[in-house]
Amino acid sequence: MIKTVMPTQQLKGSITPPPDKSISQRAAIFALLHDGESVIKNYSPAQDPQSALSCVEVLGAKVTRTDGELTIVGTGRNGIKTPTGDLDCGNSGTAMRLLSGVLAGAGISAKLVGDESLSSRTMTRIINPLEKMGAHILARNSAFAPLYITRLNELVPMDYELPIASAQLKSCVLLAGLFGETPTRVIESVPSRDHTERLLSLPRSEENGKKIISASINDEIPNQSYTIPGDFSATAFWLVAGAVHSSSEIRLVGTGLNPTRNALLEILKDMGADISIENTRLEGAEPVGDVIVKTSKLKATTIKKALIPNCIDELPVLAVAMTFAEGTSVISGAEELRHKETDRIMAIAEMLRAVGANFEETEDGLIIHGNPKFSFEGGNFKSFHDHRIAMASAVLALKGNNESKIQDAECAAVSYPSFWGDLEMLSN
Ligand code: S3P
Repeated sequence: MIKTVMPTQQLKGSITPPPDKSISQRAAIFALLHDGESVIKNYSPAQDPQSALSCVEVLGAKVTRTDGELTIVGTGRNGIKTPTGDLDCGNSGTAMRLLSGVLAGAGISAKLVGDESLSSRTMTRIINPLEKMGAHILARNSAFAPLYITRLNELVPMDYELPIASAQLKSCVLLAGLFGETPTRVIESVPSRDHTERLLSLPRSEENGKKIISASINDEIPNQSYTIPGDFSATAFWLVAGAVHSSSEIRLVGTGLNPTRNALLEILKDMGADISIENTRLEGAEPVGDVIVKTSKLKATTIKKALIPNCIDELPVLAVAMTFAEGTSVISGAEELRHKETDRIMAIAEMLRAVGANFEETEDGLIIHGNPKFSFEGGNFKSFHDHRIAMASAVLALKGNNESKIQDAECAAVSYPSFWGDLEMLSN
């Protein structure tokens, strides 16, 4: 689908962001591991969480869908079924990496498959630690899906220092660890999103400034009965759109505010964005609140490596904010962006090139020479079938003098099926 985006006089209204994609997928997978019933409210209808849900059904969870509510009766750690067919993770790296941990831990033989994008993303980061724990994983070219996972030998719990700041890798190893007699300890020096340890209530400590999270068979898996918060990564598009638009006021209701996810809030505030937060509260183990953004005057900023994991998915739209900020902004230490649904450094560069923005692409980031008065006629944007690139392009398109086109725009549904409707609502 090619989407036409028109510049708009104003951007005003109230949006309830879609349910969090990372938390929805964890809720489904952890509900499978729980021995009993979980009632999950506001489970995401987006493609990635639906892929995760189908996989847990194939692994034996009983799923009942009613309006706005999902009941999952888990198998517990001992009752997971060996699938007779493939586990199709679709576009979801989270589903593939977390489920690999479960299968390796449980010693269940299965084949995991994904779409073209997921099949081109390296899985060596999870293959290495899971093989150390006793799993055997056959991958295409030793690195890519399809993955055939099995474990013939005893599970080997271990201490594992994360070589990259990745919540998917951390979660994968912890999930395998949940099946071991002695604890597996994951050592994290740069904190990434902590939904797994929160939602599973895993033991956490700190040693020499590093976070240690452990998991073993002795950790009870809590039921996953809670309401999924709004996705901060979806809210991010409106925060930037609201900040750079000349006449805006947008309220994002019930958005997740987990501090390991929402670095963009502080970054935008430091850049001068007019953002306020109301009604903060806890939804299960996760903080949520309402966020309000208004037209702002932005100045440039520098984002260094240590902050990257806490705003990794927001970098495409942050680049749009930087384009309209006074001065030169720098994103560095973000090489992980090259391993997302597409090479996002390349894709952001293509997006900015489509409007003639002034920037340089680097090995591990971007240097963007911003200008609040920057103007362009309209862009022809490629989404590269990447949901976050399609939506960031739409935010940029709103600043054009004329209409823009976004190719393969349907991919927004991977995380945010109602994005185009919300955009129209705010524009009218
Ligand atoms: C995710 C973690 C991040 C993020 C992805 C979702 C998760 O990936 O980019 O969209 O649910 O754990 P990495 O852990 O690979 O950085």
